[in-house]
Amino acid sequence: MFSRFFSRVGLLAAPFLAIIMAGCSKADMTVRQSTLDPKGPVAQVQFDVFMATVWLVVVLFVLVGGLLVYAVIKFRARPGDENEPAIVEDGHGNPLIEIGLITASIGSLVIIAIPTLNAIWYTDDVPAESVPTSKLSVWYPRVEGGRENYAKTVEEQVLEVDVIGKQWWFRFEYPQLGLTNDAKHSVPNEMVIPKGVAVRINLRSEDVIHSFWVPKLAGKVDLMPGRKNHMWLQASETGHYYGQCAEFCGDSHAYMLFRVEVVEPAEFAKWVQRQKAPAEPVAVGTKADKGKALFAAKSCVMCHNVGGHFGAGAFGPDLTHLASRKSLAGAWLDNRDPKAQLALEQKTGNTESSVEVDRATLKANLIKWIGSSGVAHGADGKTLTKDVKPGNRMHYYKMFNVAGLRETNQKFTAEELDDLAEYLLTLK
Ligand code: CUA
Repeated sequence: MFSRFFSRVGLLAAPFLAIIMAGCSKADMTVRQSTLDPKGPVAQVQFDVFMATVWLVVVLFVLVGGLLVYAVIKFRARPGDENEPAIVEDGHGNPLIEIGLITASIGSLVIIAIPTLNAIWYTDDVPAESVPTSKLSVWYPRVEGGRENYAKTVEEQVLEVDVIGKQWWFRFEYPQLGLTNDAKHSVPNEMVIPKGVAVRINLRSEDVIHSFWVPKLAGKVDLMPGRKNHMWLQASETGHYYGQCAEFCGDSHAYMLFRVEVVEPAEFAKWVQRQKAPAEPVAVGTKADKGKALFAAKSCVMCHNVGGHFGAGAFGPDLTHLASRKSLAGAWLDNRDPKAQLALEQKTGNTESSVEVDRATLKANLIKWIGSSGVAHGADGKTLTKDVKPGNRMHYYKMFNVAGLRETNQKFTAEELDDLAEYLLTLK
């Protein structure tokens, strides 16, 4: 009787348990965004609060569920009871049990509240004790103006990154290092930070509400229009981390991703210098040169900055070093060779290891992305590509729905797309 009862319960629970357990596997190579695999102190603290709550709830579940099962079995109807149902005598409460239950409930809440409040204070801003571990000295002498540019206060020894949300991509600025949109040196899609350094993240939005979330490092905190938010994070291992917008923000919310590249501090200093370098000149008469002319003629130049080539655009992502980035289109398109990447992940056993940008993949992505956004037409006049990101702001009929521009400026032939891609590939 009992065994039949439990086997039924087991049968019902099995599929649910299987689904729940499927989300727990650290070995699963597809888990690029897992809060159960913390790689930094902030993510670790958030993970610890989660686990403390889970274990407390498991204890409560077993207690309450156990009592329920006990009562169901113990007081079940037995053969013959139909004629003489057992009537339980009315009681008037038991002060000891009542006070005990109230105390136990309050106790459970306090047990959860203590680590939760601790975590809220810890994750709110860089704690003073984190600063000595952030080895800023390795890279700050390379910063323009040198060491004296840095105030001695604890707050200012932390790397500051401004994160700006836009429909549908993230822009990263490093005000201490001169990498800002105003200075024509902002960084879209990929936030690069040094390993072991506490990073203060200042969040704001230029349109609607977005949310910044890198599950393995920290999150999630909203980017609100008209107000500033902040959080902090620190990565304990180098690697390629996956993040995404976690607040519904319109058509392409689901395609609004970003990456965090954690590198050694010396590597970070080199990266900062590279970001400030202008684009290489393009050889005259080449396909890339034709592409560069198209970039100016087809109004790409109105929104995008290319340091050293064009300087008018500030609305769209900075493209000066586009070809060195591992992702495109709000990190929705991956510029790495997917087979090589998978092979590397299987070899290393983690998704943070990353291959470099693959030229062929990047070129195909560029054609797909620009083609869909400007609507590319083949020789027969038929549309070549479909929307990569629905509603994206590059889309000609949304962005340039003005007399003249619509028909003349934003149509690309397959050949033009190829030239444009060749130009963009030179932007390393
Ligand atoms: Cu931005 Cu969702």
